[in-house]
Amino acid sequence: MALLEINNLGISFGGLRAVDAFNLKIEKGQLYGLIGPNGAGKTTAFNLLTGVYKPSQGRVLLDGEDITGKSVIEINRTGVARTFQNIRLFHELPVLDNVKVGLHNQMEYSTLAGILRLPKYRKVEKEMNQKAMELLKVFDLDGDAETLAGNLPYGKQRKLEIARALATNPKLLLLDEPAAGMNPNETKELMDTIRFIRDEFDMTILLIEHDMKLVGGICEELTVLSFGQILAQGETSAVLKDPKVITAYLGE
Ligand SMILES: Nc1ncnc2c1ncn2[C@@H]1O[C@H](COP(=O)(O)OP(=O)(O)O)[C@@H](O)[C@H]1O
Ligand SMILES: [Mg+2]
Repeated sequence: MALLEINNLGISFGGLRAVDAFNLKIEKGQLYGLIGPNGAGKTTAFNLLTGVYKPSQGRVLLDGEDITGKSVIEINRTGVARTFQNIRLFHELPVLDNVKVGLHNQMEYSTLAGILRLPKYRKVEKEMNQKAMELLKVFDLDGDAETLAGNLPYGKQRKLEIARALATNPKLLLLDEPAAGMNPNETKELMDTIRFIRDEFDMTILLIEHDMKLVGGICEELTVLSFGQILAQGETSAVLKDPKVITAYLGE
C-alpha cells in the first residue's frame, strides 16, 4: 500500500482551475519531487493535502486512512507535516523553543501538570529538550539553540523550519521550495540534509521546487505540473527527457 495516494484531486478559485485531476502515489521512504513553473498549482496542492483548502473533488489517503476534507490539526495529527514557501517561524522565540512547539503536539500531559510544573511535566520537559537538541544537531543548529529564531541567518531559518516540522514525528514531510533564496552552497548542503533525513529516518518526503535540475538531482520520481494539470509523471530520468517537459521549460 502506498503511504500517500491522491485520486482526482481538484479545486477552483473563481473560474481558475488551480489544481485539476491530480493523481499521485508515493511509497514509504520515497523522496518525490513536485515541480512546475510559478503559478502551476504546487503550493495549492500542498494546501489541499494539509487541510488549508477543502478540495472540490477527489480523495487523499494517508497510510490507507481517508484524510480528505479534514482540518489542518487533524491532518497534522494523522502524520502530515509541512514547511512553507515563505518562512513561518516564531521569530521572538529561541531556536530550541521553535522545535519544541512541534514536539508539544506529540507529548501527553495535561495543561494543569504544566502550569504546576509537576514532576511528570518536568520529566517530559527534559525529554523534549533532549529530543529537540538531537533534531537541531541533524541540521547543525545545536550551537544556535538559544539564539532568537528571527536573528538566525536566512539559510539557517529555512533549516529550522524543517527541524520543527520533523519534531511532529510525521509519516509524510512536505517541503515547499525549501531552497528558495539560498545561495548555491547553502542549497547543496540543504539537499544533502534532505537526503540524509530520508535515509536516516526512513522519512517519506514530497519536495516542491521550481528548479528542475535541483529536484532531478535528488528525487527518484517526479510529477510536473503546468497550469494545474499533470504534464508528466514517473521516473525522474524519463520525465526529464519528456519532450512536453522540455518544451514547457524552454521558456524559463
Ligand atoms: N487563495 C487563492 N485564491 C485565488 N487564487 C489562488 C489562491 N491560491 C492560489 N491561487 C492561484 O492558483 C494558481 C496556482 O498557485 P500556486 O499553487 O501558489 O502556484 P505555485 O505554488 O505552483 O507557484 C495561481 O494562479 C494562483 O494565483
Ligand atoms: Mg508555490
